[in-house]
Amino acid sequence: MSGKGGTGKTTVAAALALALAEEGKRTLLVEVEGRQGIAQLFETQALPYEERKIAVAPGGGEVFALAIDPELALLDYLQMFYKLGSAGRALRKLGAIDFATTIAPGVRDVLLTGKACEAVRRKDRGGRFVYDYVVMDAPPTGRITRFLNVNDEVAGLAKIGPIHNQAQAVMRVLKSPETAVHLVTLLEEMPVQETADGIAELRAARLPVGRVIVNMVRPQVLDAADLELVGSVSRSAVARSLSSTGLGGARRGGHAERLVEPLLAQAEEYAERYALETEQRAVLAELDVPLHELPLLAEGMDLAGLYALARKLRGQGVS
Ligand SMILES: Nc1ncnc2c1ncn2[C@@H]1O[C@H](COP(=O)(O)OP(=O)(O)OP(=O)(O)O)[C@@H](O)[C@H]1O
Ligand SMILES: [Mg+2]
Repeated sequence: MSGKGGTGKTTVAAALALALAEEGKRTLLVEVEGRQGIAQLFETQALPYEERKIAVAPGGGEVFALAIDPELALLDYLQMFYKLGSAGRALRKLGAIDFATTIAPGVRDVLLTGKACEAVRRKDRGGRFVYDYVVMDAPPTGRITRFLNVNDEVAGLAKIGPIHNQAQAVMRVLKSPETAVHLVTLLEEMPVQETADGIAELRAARLPVGRVIVNMVRPQVLDAADLELVGSVSRSAVARSLSSTGLGGARRGGHAERLVEPLLAQAEEYAERYALETEQRAVLAELDVPLHELPLLAEGMDLAGLYALARKLRGQGVS
């Protein structure tokens, strides 16, 4: 799940994981930015670098969560490929781990995508996949293609050996139809433009584009006929209607007249925003990707809201 910053990547990733669990699937929700956004959403303690069950869905499925720590992931790898053991700790003391995970460009992303792909491919003793789905709360649109493609660069740099093989295995997962990069957007110009650019970049890199989820959609309060009237409606007619419904008092010169201007100003504002949203919807329709919408939860986000969004995703066949 990618998208412009602040559009709801973390929220929608979590809602998708819940939606999948409600269908009985075992799902891993992965965080890579070290922000503990998932723990916050599920109202639990900070997640360690360890897969933890954070929700059981009515459908019997489960959501596990993992906040990938690049340093620990690197130690994992060194252990896996080079059986470093305590030498890994020595490297850490020397600052080599810090160097690799924070300074060497790309290494961090190799570790993060590598760990997620390991979870995707992991099987239990009986040879069955441990997770039916892995949902990643991924970096924002501006960085997503580079982030997912970094292993291509690595495979090119390390021509043979375990690192080359590992990088190729990761790319095989990421470029396969098993993977889908979903993008979250708002019905606003900037995020929609980023979505369009992001899709073009992903397609150019041959990464599988999934769906676009329009988040925080506001309810439509005026229909087409009402919208036509905005700007041309007679003020006295509005005042009369208000009075006749008992709003602002029935008496002539009561509050009704004072309500008219602010109400009409609101209607105009709404009509303007609606026109802008309609434009953005048209831009999104051009992208040739399945579109879904999630409502703006007026009460703000909480766990109940998260489950409500998960239901909406299921209702639209996203999961
Ligand atoms: N449908 C919604 N209704 C109401 N509030 C929402 C909705 N979706 C997200 N939010 C709120 O919007 C804010 C941003 O959401 P979120 O943190 O998921 O975005 P993000 O894209 O992950 O942000 P960042 O780029 O900072 O990681 C949060 O406060 C979240 O609770
Ligand atoms: Mg986030």
